[in-house]
Amino acid sequence: MTGEQQDWDIVSGVGITALSVAAARAVDTSRADGLIRDPFAAAFVEAASPPRPIPTRADDIPADDHTWGPLSRLLALRSKFFDDYFFSATAAGLRQVVILAAGLDCRAFRLDWPSGTTVYEIDQPRVLEFKDQVLAGLGARPASARRLVPVDLRDDWVTALRGAGFDSARPTAWLAEGLLPYLPDEAITRLIDAIHELSGPGSTVGIEHFDNAQAVFDDPKVAEGADDRGIDTGALFAGGSKKSPDEYLSSLGWRTTTESIFELSDRYERPLGGVESQLFGGRYITGTLGR
Ligand SMILES: C[S@@+](CC[C@H](N)C(=O)[O-])C[C@H]1O[C@@H](n2cnc3c(N)ncnc32)[C@H](O)[C@@H]1O
Repeated sequence: MTGEQQDWDIVSGVGITALSVAAARAVDTSRADGLIRDPFAAAFVEAASPPRPIPTRADDIPADDHTWGPLSRLLALRSKFFDDYFFSATAAGLRQVVILAAGLDCRAFRLDWPSGTTVYEIDQPRVLEFKDQVLAGLGARPASARRLVPVDLRDDWVTALRGAGFDSARPTAWLAEGLLPYLPDEAITRLIDAIHELSGPGSTVGIEHFDNAQAVFDDPKVAEGADDRGIDTGALFAGGSKKSPDEYLSSLGWRTTTESIFELSDRYERPLGGVESQLFGGRYITGTLGR
């Protein structure tokens, strides 16, 4: 993301991206064959009341819409993949979780965390404020200890995270889902360096990455969908990493595995609908630090 962020709220600028992803989770939750269950997602869209309506139920997606249906399938696959990533991490004994750019992610509420787990959520203060207002209105209770870290990831988020109680002596399960395209290349390198510095042996990381994020935003289908939602891609997206995060993590001693959305689609048996879009060029990376 570039520039100052004074002029946005949950229905514009970066806020609308978090809201759109939540809407996709709501759509998948409404499907009989949905992969994820997020009972909180629709309430965010309702509370935000965006000027251009965003569907929160599969039934609300017009039959001739070839963007939102496949996009919600894609986002459900990625959510499910990272849900399973956290499940494996806690099964391996990890009890410290950091969700970078958590947005309206409600995993702290909707996943079954072992007792003793603490989930740290980092995002822009205004996103987290909105999120907590809605969740409080629903009377939602987290299923883990939950610590909010309202900070810009371009600022000193490490100090903010430590201030919230994060302990780098303990192994951590990290997640960067739907984040890298917003950060310039050097910020991504700094982010991975910080994750590495803060990670004890046995730590894990989950990352969504696009080799060519700019191509995603230049894709006519993505541009049209973004325009419909009032998302100014030119102003928001910094283009993502030019170098592969998995290769960089490997060079630091992480064992990584990378899958495409098509591999996830096969594994979870949810076809993507044959739509050609750069959005389907994402790579889903997980890594474990073995030192
Ligand atoms: C597409 S949303 C994804 C949110 C969440 N990870 C999910 O999948 O639901 C992108 C999120 O990145 C956050 N974000 C982008 N740049 C950021 C920055 N510099 N500092 C903190 N958060 C940032 C936005 O506020 C937004 O919540």
